Amino acid sequence: MPNKTIQLNSADLQEKSTGLRFDIPQLGEHATGFAIRYQNQVYAYVNQCAHMPVELDWNEGEFFTVDRDFLICATHGAHYEPNTGHCVYGPCKGKQLQALAVTEEGERIIIHLEKD
Ligand code: FES
Repeated sequence: MPNKTIQLNSADLQEKSTGLRFDIPQLGEHATGFAIRYQNQVYAYVNQCAHMPVELDWNEGEFFTVDRDFLICATHGAHYEPNTGHCVYGPCKGKQLQALAVTEEGERIIIHLEKD
């Protein structure tokens, strides 16, 4: 399968604000990913907790903790570093979110999916 890309609008992704969700049919029928902006850099991950195979967001697109310093899983509260996807607190401490390659060009965010 050729590489796929997903394009998002840069203006739709604000610093430490609501994330942008997108479908990743390559990973399964209901698989989703998300992008967030943190310290003016865009990061994207597969939307699946490292503890159990559930989506992270408690409300669609809400990935940040109240203080906006970490990404949090709604189910058991695992905390992830926004810039690395590394779990620093919770039942999957030491594990990782699955990062997706992402670039930002002009007004567009491009997610690069390279699964076959
Ligand atoms: S499923 Fe995410 S912390 Fe348990």
